This record gives sequence, C-alpha cells and structure tokens, in this order.
Amino acid sequence: MNKRLFSAFLSACCLASVSAVMPDAEIDSRVSDLLGRMTLDEKIGQLNQLSGYGYAPDMVGRIRSGAVGSLLNETDPEVVNQLQREAVENSRLGIPLIFARDVIHGFKTIFPIPLGQAASWNPDIVREGARIAADEASSVGIRWTFSPMVDISRDARWGRIAESFGEDPVLSAKLGVAMVEGYQGDDLASPNAMAACAKHFAGYGASESGKDYNTTWIPETLLRDVYLRPFKELVKAGSATFMCSFNDINGVPSSGNRVLLEDILRGEWGYDGMMVSDWGSIEQMIPHGYSADLRQAASQAVNAGVDMDMESHAYTGHLRHLVESGEVSEARVDSLVRNVLTLKYRLGLFENPYVDMASSRRFYAPSSLDAARRAVEESAILLKNTGTLPLNNSKVKKIAVIGPMADAQHDQAGTWVFDLEKERSVTPLTALQQMYGKENVIYAPGLEHTRDLDTKGFANAVKAARKADVVLFFAGEEAVLSGEAHCRADLSLPGAQSRLLAELKNVGKPVVMIVQAGRQLAIMPESEMADAVVYCFHGGTMTGPALANLLSGEANFSGRCPVSFPRMSGQEPLYYNHKNTGRPASGITLINDIETEAGQTSTGCTSYFLDAGDGAFYPFGYGLSYTTFEYGEPVLSATSIAPDGSLKVSCTVTNTGNREGAEVAQLYIRDHVASLVRPVRELRDFAKITLKPGESRTLEFTITPADLEFHVNGAQTVVEPGEFSVWIAPNAAEGTPAKFTVVKPNDLAAK
Ligand code: NOJ
Repeated sequence: MNKRLFSAFLSACCLASVSAVMPDAEIDSRVSDLLGRMTLDEKIGQLNQLSGYGYAPDMVGRIRSGAVGSLLNETDPEVVNQLQREAVENSRLGIPLIFARDVIHGFKTIFPIPLGQAASWNPDIVREGARIAADEASSVGIRWTFSPMVDISRDARWGRIAESFGEDPVLSAKLGVAMVEGYQGDDLASPNAMAACAKHFAGYGASESGKDYNTTWIPETLLRDVYLRPFKELVKAGSATFMCSFNDINGVPSSGNRVLLEDILRGEWGYDGMMVSDWGSIEQMIPHGYSADLRQAASQAVNAGVDMDMESHAYTGHLRHLVESGEVSEARVDSLVRNVLTLKYRLGLFENPYVDMASSRRFYAPSSLDAARRAVEESAILLKNTGTLPLNNSKVKKIAVIGPMADAQHDQAGTWVFDLEKERSVTPLTALQQMYGKENVIYAPGLEHTRDLDTKGFANAVKAARKADVVLFFAGEEAVLSGEAHCRADLSLPGAQSRLLAELKNVGKPVVMIVQAGRQLAIMPESEMADAVVYCFHGGTMTGPALANLLSGEANFSGRCPVSFPRMSGQEPLYYNHKNTGRPASGITLINDIETEAGQTSTGCTSYFLDAGDGAFYPFGYGLSYTTFEYGEPVLSATSIAPDGSLKVSCTVTNTGNREGAEVAQLYIRDHVASLVRPVRELRDFAKITLKPGESRTLEFTITPADLEFHVNGAQTVVEPGEFSVWIAPNAAEGTPAKFTVVKPNDLAAK
C-alpha cells in the first residue's frame, strides 16, 4: 500500500473508531521525540499561523516545507483536506495543520451574540450553543475556535462588548467555563470537538474611552480582582488555548508582556496550553512604540511567551537570526513549539487529521434550531410592561409590525458571523405572520435601516398603526454598529428611529418597542414613550420565532441585564460594582429643576450628573417576567466567621403570580470597611430557577473566603476582619441585606 493510500485508510479507521484520550505522559514523550527530529526552520514553521487563501501553489509550497503550523479562515472541507494532505503526506515530518476560525456564537446555526447569551444567566444554554457550534464547524474541519472572549466590559461604547459576557467577572467566568465545556466536550480528541481560546489576555475591555485597541491603565489589584478573574477560571476549566490582547496595560503591550503571559498565567496558575497572538499583534508592538522593528518585536514576543504568531510574519522572518545571534535560545523556541505540538496531539490530529467528507456539513439540525430558539427566549429581557404584554388574543386582532429591525435577516445575526447564510435567519415579521396569519399583520418598516434619516416611510407606518390594535416597533442597531473596531460615542438609537416612535405613539395605540442591538443602548426617552420594552441583543437565526413566542405569551421572559443600561451615553463607563466615593449621590437635583442663579453648592455637592442623575436606568441583573417573584429575608448560618471560615445564606423565593416563570436569584456581598475600598456590591453566585404559580423554593448559597477576599499585593489576597453585607436579590439595585462579621480568630474564640 503506498503512503497516501495507507494514510487515507488510517484516517478512515480512526474516524470510525471512538477516539481515546492520550495520556499526558505519552503526549510528552511523542512531542519530545518529534522535537528531537525537527530542524530549526521546521520548529519556526510550527509557530506560524496564516490566513488561508485556498489550495494555492505557494501555500502548498509553504506547507510542504513545514513553514506553516496553522491556518485560519479555511472553511471548505475539500480544501481543508487537500491542504492537510500536503502537511501530513508531503512534508518531511508529516505534522498536521490546525484549522482555526472565529466561531463566536455559532457557525451556521447562529445563537445570540455572547452578550445576549449572558442575558440568559444560564450556563446550560451557553454550553449547548457551543457544543452545536463545535459540531457544525468541525464538520468542515475547523478544530479550533477563537472563543470565548471573557473581557470584562464596563463601557457600552466599546463595540466588542457584543462579544463579551458583560460587566461582571463572576457571570463572565461561569458562562466562559460553560462555553469551553461546550466546545471541547469530554474529549478534545474527538473529531467533533474544537479547542477553545480564552481571549483576549488581558484587560482589553478596559480600552480607554471605549475606543477599540486603545491603551489601558489598570492597577494590579483591579486587574487581578476583576479583569483576570474569568481567565483564571478558564485555566481551571482546561481551555486548550489562550490569545493575548491588542492593548497595552500600563505601557506594556500584551504580546510582549512576560509578567502576564509567563509569570501569572503559567507560573501562578499552572496553565499548560498554547498561547496565540492576536492578528498582527506582534507586529503592532512597533506602532505601539514598544518595538523598534519586527525583529525586536519577534524577540519580545518569544521571550514573553507567545507560542504562535498570527499573521505578523515575525517568527518566520526573524526567529532564525535571533537564535543564531544568541538573542533567543533554541531551548526557548523548543518550549513554544512544545505547546503547539502538544495541542495537536491533544486534538488527536496526528491520528485523525482529515475531515470525514461523508458526514461533513452538519448544519441547521432541527434540534440545533430548537436550541437556538430557546437561547433567544431565555436571553430576551422584558424591561418594561404596563400590561400590553403578553398580547391579548381576544383584544388583538390586527398587529402593526414597524421598524427597521422587523425583517432584517442579516442584522439580527449580529457581529462575528463570517459563515452566516442570512436567508436562514427567521425574522420577527416572518414568525409573526406565521403565528397570527399574514392577513392580520400589517407591515410598514418606516425606515429602511437603523441609521436611516429619511422620513418618507413614516406616513405608511402611521397608517399601519391606525389600522392595528397594537404596534410592535422593532428598533435597534444594525450588526455593523458593534463588534471589533465598531465603537460608538453616542449610545442613542441611531437614525430617525426615535422620531418614528414618537409619531407612532401619537396614534394612541399601545406600543411595544423591541430593541435588537449589539450593546446596551441609552434608550431612556424611548422607554418612556413605549408601553412595553423588550431588549434582545442580536439573537441570531431564530430571533423571530423566539420573539413571537415571548410577545404572544407562549413563552415567558427570563432574561436579565448582564450590563448596566445608561440613561445617557456620558455616564459610561457604567457598572454596578463601582466604589462608593466619599460623597455618594443623594438629594439629586436634575438640571431642569435648578433655579436660575442658584448658588454653587445648592445642588448638594454629591457624586452625580446634573443631566443623568446617578446609576443605571435599568440595573445589572434586572428583568421582568409575566409572573412576579417575592424574596424572603436572607437567613445566615452564622453572623461571625473567621477569615478562613465559611457560612451559608439562604432565602425563600416565591412565584406570586399566576403563571410559571424562571427567576435569577443573585448573591451579592459588600465588604464595608477595608484597607483598600471595596465595591458597593459584588456578585458572587446566582441560580436560575423555574417556579410554578404559588411555588416557593429555598435557595442556599455558601460564602467562602474566595468570595470575600481581594488582592492587596501581587497574587496576595486577604479577607479582612469587619462587617459584610450579603444579599440574595433580583438585581444589583434591590434586595434586603443581612449582615455578618469577619472576626480575628482570637476574637471568635472569645465569643
Ligand atoms: C482579531 C480579533 O481581535 C480576535 O478576536 C480574532 O480572533 C482574530 N482577529 C482572528 O480573526
């Protein structure tokens, strides 16, 4: 049997067989053996990641010579197999390539953007979405996704907030872990598993003024307490890869940050996976002003611990010379190559390099579409309801469907959907027509897209509203207004949408505003006009059916804000877990209530905006339902604990309405006095529970030192004696606190 036939035979056998996890020791010894046989150029080739451009002769040449370790953006399974065959059968050592892609919230079946998934507060939803994404993408040969992004995002101006799980480190960590579990499954070597990539390490979400790629200035205590927290959990969850970020932190770009990549990630946390640069981020250390040229950038990145160079061509261009001149040791290069080869073994690529063409393209399975619909149902948030929702079938016969997002197949998918087939998106218009009958839905978009300023469609929209019993106004932001490099300084509804809503309101029919967007927008004026407000972060393929179910009442709302909604753009960055200041807001006098020629101190000199007041318009954790929930007083198992002690806190939640619903009970703590001032509240845990009408459930959470500690000096944490509050609450702005004290061990013994 010739080499090619044998290899094809072997891969077919392997596909048919159940993959077995290769023990770490065996992977180590295979990697050592391979490393020992590699030339320096072959090693450097393994560290090189390129964007694919098909089965092109020069790419084939590079692969055969061993100059490429990974390709991104190649999604045709036949091409994937052709290129892989060149690596496996026609390169000297036969080392397989890893094919990567940004599969961020679904490959073909598109789930809500990550910020939307975060609004579900349900790790199961996130895990299931990731599993489906991995199954679909791996069916064309993608075995590595650049997701999850767990950058803490406290600023809605930043376009990439769409790809994040929002502003809270605990929520982001739990959902990030679920996403890793979904992508990687139980066995990374299984042909339908994808390696996850925890990104962007680190601090990218703190980009100054919410402008993408901007600088960050993050004190180490804040970095560790907030920005690094989810990443640490993703190491524990076994994320196979990490990606370093574009930004600099305190003057050091991540691609050259040895403290971050080596000392903290590998040294302190014991990470043993692979680190990829972001696209061109090694080269970008030159415009940052950190590297004089690409050669220096390559040296800085290698020494910092960037294993794979994504599209900077820094390693292929300069690493050989750096080794020859002694600036970089070959042992250092070996340690990076080891991480890349280990990943390839962990993915089972040596045993099973090819896409199984017979089972390729596992897209849009009915069960996947069903899961995508449930994900939107769980993540849409009911922000306001004066009784218009659910639509009352005995009163509502004709529905006016208005607004630029009602039938936006492309835009409802959101950002980062390179593989979108927009004709598969089921829009709200289509779903409502199916549910209520085409003859009962009067469609008049009013505006062609969300930025449209032309009011020529208003007259038809108003006419439709007059003929209907209820107006459903689908507003929002197009997909292109959020995501990478798509930041906005003004967070209001774009175009003439607000004016259109005002005209609809004048008609006098009940108006429901449904916003689909990539971030939390400043919708205070529009919320005040509407009778009900639904917020649906771009929901993907099944947005329409899910919204139809929710609006009609077939499904109940259970989404909760994963971010704080501002009253006005100028409040950003806005987040619930802020510090109190020495003059917390009180006795707020707003701009229009200030008397003319009022004295300078007449408004009280506390911490608020004259025009926006203080705090969120819709707070973190907030969301309504078609039923109501009541929280009992929190009960503590102890009122004093030692710094290394634990206690339990419980609370009974009751469904006091008359239909079944799901509630997200949120555990918050506050350390009242500390050597470094602490936030007014910090989420520590949550539970999403479903209760029947009248049903009560007692929830119990355990508070451990890990929930009470904060960083004081590098990795050092403390739990300081003193008073703490704890809440089990429906959101960050409500709830009744219970108090306990952390006491010095001696004082506790004396009690
Ligand atoms: C740049 C983005 O920052 C990163 O998130 C993405 O994974 C890479 N490009 C690859 O497309």
